[in-house]
Amino acid sequence: MQIMNLPGPKARALVKRDQDVISPSYPRGYPFVMEHGKGTEVWDVDNNRFLDFAAGIAVVSTGHSHPAVVKAIQEQAEKFIHISSDFYHTKWIELGEKINEIAPFMDNAVSFMTNSGTESVEAAIKLARQSSGASQFIGFLGGFHGRTMGAVTFTASKPVYHRDFYPLMNGVTHVPFPDPYRPILDVKPGEDYGDKVVEYIEEQILNHLLPPEDVAGILVEPIQGEGGYVLPTPGFFPALRQLCDKHDILLIVDEVQSGMGRTGKWWAIQHYGVEPDIVCAAKGIASGMPLGVMFAKEHIVKWPRGAHGNTFGGNPISCAAALATIELIEKEYLQNAVEMGDYLIEILRQIQARHPSVGDVRGKGLMIGLEFVKDPQTKTPDSKLRDYTVDNAFLRGLLLLGCGSSTIRFAPPLCVTRSEIDEATVIFEEALSASERGEEPLLGAQSEVHTIAA
Ligand SMILES: Cc1ncc(COP(=O)(O)O)c(C=O)c1O
Repeated sequence: MQIMNLPGPKARALVKRDQDVISPSYPRGYPFVMEHGKGTEVWDVDNNRFLDFAAGIAVVSTGHSHPAVVKAIQEQAEKFIHISSDFYHTKWIELGEKINEIAPFMDNAVSFMTNSGTESVEAAIKLARQSSGASQFIGFLGGFHGRTMGAVTFTASKPVYHRDFYPLMNGVTHVPFPDPYRPILDVKPGEDYGDKVVEYIEEQILNHLLPPEDVAGILVEPIQGEGGYVLPTPGFFPALRQLCDKHDILLIVDEVQSGMGRTGKWWAIQHYGVEPDIVCAAKGIASGMPLGVMFAKEHIVKWPRGAHGNTFGGNPISCAAALATIELIEKEYLQNAVEMGDYLIEILRQIQARHPSVGDVRGKGLMIGLEFVKDPQTKTPDSKLRDYTVDNAFLRGLLLLGCGSSTIRFAPPLCVTRSEIDEATVIFEEALSASERGEEPLLGAQSEVHTIAA
């Protein structure tokens, strides 16, 4: 297998220019400098080809520059690019209607359009406080919800997101996420760890710390993303829904990464058979155009005119891209995510059988995490092996991203093909074997940061 000499001369020069003028806070990974892309394939400025199994952090759901999405963007751009949220336009209303159709609850869904995931979460926080009259929230350790002041308060995947930024928003209490691979509460054999976590919330948090009537909402990712592609146990969401109903607390799901068909259903929460009250979406909704949506059951969205708004929300080009994206997902890619997800997870499990360093392979649809351990018994995370493997895969033509302390996420576009999965998994195993042999990927000083991508 060919090992490329990366970064190439053009990429190297651009990375250097970037360092002079762009904020160093960005969680840059290995030095991939994109020139163009088509579907799951991307090329860098030195004309090197890669398979993109990161999809811009699970964003380009229909692949890079899908012709139908490009056409929708072009047609809308020729008509008008912006009008502001003080007025109305057709695509915005059509998108609201479409969200209402695919919402994971029976009630009518009312949408608030944003420009990013973090803004969708901010909108949910404000709506939950406004509609409930309560101020407190519960969030989860390992969760990631964004980086603006409200959302970042919930974010609890790495201390770097909080360091130097205190005081954060008042009113968030964190509890363990029911990670069955690494439980931090004591679970008895046969007991569902999700039930245990909900019992902990009720008996320890609500009984001793937070009066339930002061809790506006519980914010949770149905599958943790940046925290390590962690799936909760099956009992968790039904028990959490019951708890919310009992105490009149809003269940807010952050589907920014797990939504829009990525897991083979429109929303990951639909795997768990419960209805949320408020949903946050972004990332894959418009195939890469900046757009987020916070939507909720109609009876909750009664805030008065002017209570919340923005300039760019509901941007016509983003809405046009979202409508084209939703149509493609509906017609083809939801089913493809199920089939290709099953295929990919099966191959990764075969790789796991050959490599004891792979402690766990888990996922739904095309949201799959593979976790490295130093020893399958002790499950000690092997972050170095993960980091080496990500960079060694890059050198061999595969874009991957880390998450959690020692996990790689496989999140290709939802249009990924069987042959692309075959090619990518061969590269992955080769990169893993090289890393296990201790072959250090020579990429300069960049290699420490790629685990931070959200
Ligand atoms: C689950 C989740 N919520 C919120 C966010 C924040 O989204 P954004 O980066 O668009 O603000 C992300 C990703 O970054 C995410 O994965």
